[in-house]
Amino acid sequence: MPADSPLIHMQQLMLRYPTGKIALSGLTLDITQGQFVYLVGESGAGKSSLLRMCYGGVRPTSGALNVQNTDMRSANPSRIRQLRRHTGIIFQDHRLLFSRTVFENVALPLRVQGWKTERLIPRVRKVLTYVGLADRLWSYPEALSGGEQQRVAIARAMTSNPAVILADEPTGNLDVDTASRVVDYLMALNRLGTTVIMATHDLHLLESHPGRVVQLHAGLLAGSAYS
Ligand SMILES: Nc1ncnc2c1ncn2[C@@H]1O[C@H](COP(=O)(O)OP(=O)(O)OP(=O)(O)O)[C@@H](O)[C@H]1O
Ligand SMILES: [Mg+2]
Repeated sequence: MPADSPLIHMQQLMLRYPTGKIALSGLTLDITQGQFVYLVGESGAGKSSLLRMCYGGVRPTSGALNVQNTDMRSANPSRIRQLRRHTGIIFQDHRLLFSRTVFENVALPLRVQGWKTERLIPRVRKVLTYVGLADRLWSYPEALSGGEQQRVAIARAMTSNPAVILADEPTGNLDVDTASRVVDYLMALNRLGTTVIMATHDLHLLESHPGRVVQLHAGLLAGSAYS
């Protein structure tokens, strides 16, 4: 693929779940490296489904989806694993492991890649410092507020220095101020070069933190503009 090709390329992308439900019905869209993209649209519009396809959680039914030079329709499991090493994923419910310390939660993606503890500690400390939680390394998630837990999830998503962060309603459970701070962190990462795609219903963020807005409606592209 040529160097100037988009980081994520979709052409007539379609996803039909085994239930028969068509979540995306012909999406053509390019996302270039370095963009900060909001995915908006009504509940059921297809935002989570699109993010899921971008990390190989579900395979496209037809059309083309190319993510970081990977054809997501034909990629084998080892290629998908490799892609995920360069992808940070953040969910609304953050999915932290409550039986593990903040350190272990953030270290997890690197442990999976075989990093040894001596090498892990400075890296985990660095990303937790970045999100303002260096002093909580040995806390358990239940001792943190919702916003702090979400910042741990951001730290975990950024540990392996991903090219792309996919965030599915990362501010969904947070108050307006905390949500704004979470997006501050994502935007700061974006300024350092990470492409960020974030599904959200928090439309006020589009004004306070402008970016590219991709609007989905019933599985189709309803618009793409800058806020
Ligand atoms: N695993 C699944 N199996 C079958 N249908 C699904 C599955 N996941 C989602 N859907 C359906 O696909 C459509 C798109 O769902 P999706 O979760 O992508 O929407 P969304 O835009 O993320 O909505 P929300 O804003 O509520 O999170 C919906 O009609 C949904 O019911
Ligand atoms: Mg969703």
